[in-house]
Amino acid sequence: MRKQIVAGNWKMNKDYVDSELLVSKLLEQYNHSQTEVIIAPPFTSLLCSSNLLKGSQINVAAQNMHFAENGAYTGEISAGMLKSIGIQTVILGHSERRAYFNETDTLLAKKVDTALQHSMRIIFCFGEELADRKSGNEEVIVEGQIKNALFHLPASAWENIVLAYEPVWAIGTGETASPEQAQDMHAFVRKTIENKYSSDLSSEVTIIYGGSVKSTNAKEIFSKADVDGGLIGGAALDVTQFTAIINAF
Ligand code: 13P
Repeated sequence: MRKQIVAGNWKMNKDYVDSELLVSKLLEQYNHSQTEVIIAPPFTSLLCSSNLLKGSQINVAAQNMHFAENGAYTGEISAGMLKSIGIQTVILGHSERRAYFNETDTLLAKKVDTALQHSMRIIFCFGEELADRKSGNEEVIVEGQIKNALFHLPASAWENIVLAYEPVWAIGTGETASPEQAQDMHAFVRKTIENKYSSDLSSEVTIIYGGSVKSTNAKEIFSKADVDGGLIGGAALDVTQFTAIINAF
C-alpha cells in the first residue's frame, strides 16, 4: 500500500517567531491520522520546527538544497547541513525554483543524486504551464521533466521519491485542476513509470497534487484513485485549513 501524504510548503513565509506559533497551533489541532503530515518551513525555521515536533507524527522538510557537498556557493544550503539538523526530506524542482531561479532538469538531476546519496527522501515537483495545457502538450512536458531528472535512477532509489504534480497555472491562482485533470495526469505519470520500471514500482510511488488545494476542494481531489495526497501552499499557513485538508482523507 502506498503512503498518503499531506505536505505544507510554507514558501518564503513565517519568520522564526511566527513559525513557532504556527507549529504550536498545528500540534494542538492535529489528531493522529493515517496520512503522513509534513511541513516545509523556510530554512531559518527548520530547526525550531523540528524541535517542537519531536515525538509527534509530523515531519519537517526543506524547500530546497544545493547539489554540492560544500564550497563557494554563497547563500546555498547543502544536504549535509540539512541532515546535521535532522532534516530527512527535501522538496526539489518546485516550479517557483524552476521559473525564478532557472533550475533546469539537468540541475535537478544533480540535486536528486546528492539528496539520495545522503539517504534523503525527495518530494519531486513537476507540472506544465498554462500555455502547455492550452496547446495540449501537458503530458509531453511532464514526461520530459520526470524522465530528465529521475529516469537515470535505479529502481531501488524510488523508495525515496515522492512525486508532486503541480500545474503551474493552478499555483496560488485560486484555480485548481479539476479532480479529473489531476487524476488523468497522475494516471499518466504512473503509466510512464510503469513503462520504464515495472507495475510493482509504479503502484507504490506516492503521487500528490498541488495547486490551490483548500479545505473545500481537498476531499474531492483526494478521492481520485491515483491522487495520494496534496502539496499545499497558501492553505498550509492557516492551521484550521491545513488540518481540515489533512482530515479530508
Ligand atoms: P498554493 O496551494 O498556494 O496554490 O501553492 C501550491 C504550491 O506551490 C505548493 O508547493
